[in-house]
Amino acid sequence: MDSELKLEDIVSLAKRRGFIYQGSEVYGGLSGTWDYGPLGVQLKRNIMNLWWKMFVDERDDMYGVDAAILMNRKVWQASGHVDTFTDPLVECSNCNARHRADKLDDPNKCPTCGKEGTFGEARQFNMMFETFVGPSAVATPIEDEKGENYTNEKTGNTLLAYDPSQVSYLRPETAQGIFTNYKNVVDSFYPDLPFGLAQQGKAFRNEISPRDFVFRSREFEQMEIEYFVNPDNWEESFEHWISQCKEWFKALGLPEGRVHELEVEGDDRAHYSKRTVDFEFDYPIGREELMGLAYRTDFDLKNIEDNSGKKMDYTIKGTNTRFIPHVIEPSFGVERALMAVLCSAYREDEQNGERRVFLALPEHLAPIKYAVSPLLKNKPELVEKAREVYAKLAKENPGRVMWDDNGNIGKRYRRQDEIGTPYCVVIDFQTLEDGTVTVRNRDTTEQNRINSAEIE
Ligand code: GAP
Repeated sequence: MDSELKLEDIVSLAKRRGFIYQGSEVYGGLSGTWDYGPLGVQLKRNIMNLWWKMFVDERDDMYGVDAAILMNRKVWQASGHVDTFTDPLVECSNCNARHRADKLDDPNKCPTCGKEGTFGEARQFNMMFETFVGPSAVATPIEDEKGENYTNEKTGNTLLAYDPSQVSYLRPETAQGIFTNYKNVVDSFYPDLPFGLAQQGKAFRNEISPRDFVFRSREFEQMEIEYFVNPDNWEESFEHWISQCKEWFKALGLPEGRVHELEVEGDDRAHYSKRTVDFEFDYPIGREELMGLAYRTDFDLKNIEDNSGKKMDYTIKGTNTRFIPHVIEPSFGVERALMAVLCSAYREDEQNGERRVFLALPEHLAPIKYAVSPLLKNKPELVEKAREVYAKLAKENPGRVMWDDNGNIGKRYRRQDEIGTPYCVVIDFQTLEDGTVTVRNRDTTEQNRINSAEIE
């Protein structure tokens, strides 16, 4: 990563080249939401597929699940999210701006209007998005004794009461969809301990101050593992997952020196965790959390057992030994991984006296692996041959080969460099004679002639 790299460089490249756009941009945007363009979605999929391959497909102690986003609200009462999934919120009495109290540079000064001493006491703001399940009317106006509607003094809006039995939440973590399926998987597969359940999917948090591009979004994606262990062995498994996380960072191509391990102490840990290690990354916005590893003990399964009345214990095969397993949870955020990948790959250099921007993405993550071009697009014999090479590579690398005949060859190289394409394959007149093509390497800009059949 370029040490001078600014977040704006990444945001602007991401938009310009079709990786990530602001959500609902055409209507002025919706804060904390982002849309993925064609290259962003491919990069995101490459990251998520790599994770699934490493942590599910290539292990025999892991089971994949894909639970519903909407869950019975009892899940969130039992998990503690209804009561404790909060951030401290302060409101400025001068400009009414709301801020997250623990993220202010100066706790006495409003960053919106600059006035000092305008914040009252912080109140706890629950970050879960509420929603209503079912088709009946969910909210009715609250009336006073004269039968008139109560209104909010500031906004003039009518105050509404709703039927709490219809309330549910957009899940703020994917983890609960795993815990609620633990018993199903045990009953279907009888796995030996330790074993894990893995899930990828959307999570939603009504962040008070979404900021820093996709880093703190209101809708994002998680990749989570709940690893069920014998409580006597939790420390061993915790260490195992520390080393697995490090392997993951390597696979993402993150420079070792930019990832830091932070032991989270006491009150800074989530309500369910007895030990937490956060992995932080040096983003252009500073050193911030990339992902977390937590020892959740039997907190969740025990809560489920207490609240549902269903047994969550596990019997060691061939014995009468029963207990509720404990859990190690590596929790990975897709957006933060993707942002770390982009920041690690961003490079600037000079080629023939001109500034060049390129993404040195690892080959297995780059959205496009090969760009194929005819040297001249008005020579049918070159186009025909190039189409042949394109079709063959596209078959071997579905979705990851781009046909590019826009502009001159120099412009094509620049464009492909910016989106991180490792190889540009050019078909020229010599190809027609001896079947060789030019393959240009993104990082070195070196060009080699090789037989088109041997590109892969
Ligand atoms: N199940 C545990 C859990 O959800 P967390 O530390 O709250 O733990 C895990 O979240 C990961 O999810 C974070 O390390 C981060 O990568 C990602 N994440 C959390 N909030 C996010 C947000 N608002 N925007 C983007 N990613 C977020």
